Amino acid sequence: MEIQLWKELLHPYEQAVSELLTKFQNLKEEHKKRNLYSPIESVSGRTKTVASILEKMQKKNIPFEHLEAEVEDIAGVRIICQFQEDIEKVSQLISQRTDMEVRSRKDYLANQKKSGYRSLHLIVWYTVETISGPKKLQVEIQIRTMAMNFWATTEHSLQYKYKGDIPEHVREKLSRASDAIEILDEEMSQVRSEIMDAQIDSQIETNLVKDILRNIENLYRMDNRREVIKIQDEFYRIFSSHNLEELRRFHKQLDIMAEGSRAQSVDISV
Ligand code: GTP
Ligand code: MG
Repeated sequence: MEIQLWKELLHPYEQAVSELLTKFQNLKEEHKKRNLYSPIESVSGRTKTVASILEKMQKKNIPFEHLEAEVEDIAGVRIICQFQEDIEKVSQLISQRTDMEVRSRKDYLANQKKSGYRSLHLIVWYTVETISGPKKLQVEIQIRTMAMNFWATTEHSLQYKYKGDIPEHVREKLSRASDAIEILDEEMSQVRSEIMDAQIDSQIETNLVKDILRNIENLYRMDNRREVIKIQDEFYRIFSSHNLEELRRFHKQLDIMAEGSRAQSVDISV
């Protein structure tokens, strides 16, 4: 295929990856803004390189006419979760969306690969709008925990080093490491609810502080500045005590005050 044609072929896939990264990032942010635990820890993506596409076509005997149908991972998105329970949550979130349609699912969690690889793969249909109209294409979404990702990235580097032919003694070590990863994910699941609570509390505190500071700034613009400095000192005192309940009460008080000032300033203006 000519260079220009590769570029044209890959461009919609690049667009898909970029759009999906933004969408999954937003999904994470939306959880945080609503003080909800996010099953998504981080997202990354890539389009397959021409070299890697050619290699796969050769290996699997795929003709050019079938390239887009049979190479399902030209566009790839990886979603990393903190806990193994989050993987199914993310899969459900994806299934419920109207902007992508799950075409197939490969569950390497229930059916771990011989190498020790564990991950959940969804192949989804996703439509991008291009200058020549809509284009429906496949995207491979890999969902795994941070621990599984650690294993997979390391193993992938070794695959590269040994050109896919990892010596038996290294393979054994990797297999044992994969078992250890599985145990680690199980152990982490045991403390999941505690960690989730802690993260939600920290998120609530972040959002409260943001709100409080916005209110203080507004009051500063409208009210007696000396009074506002006192309020700010009070905020610093409460903040350093790390008492979420007190912070909540203070937030509510300030909200009422801000409401009062707003009403007053409206009164003055009429
Ligand atoms: P590929 O030709 O590797 O794409 O295989 P496939 O089309 O049969 O799909 P499969 O589900 O086996 O693999 C899809 C992708 O999952 C791969 O491109 C890798 O990113 C990842 N993967 C699958 N198996 C392994 C593995 O044993 N080790 C690592 N590190 N990654 C794997
Ligand atoms: Mg692949």
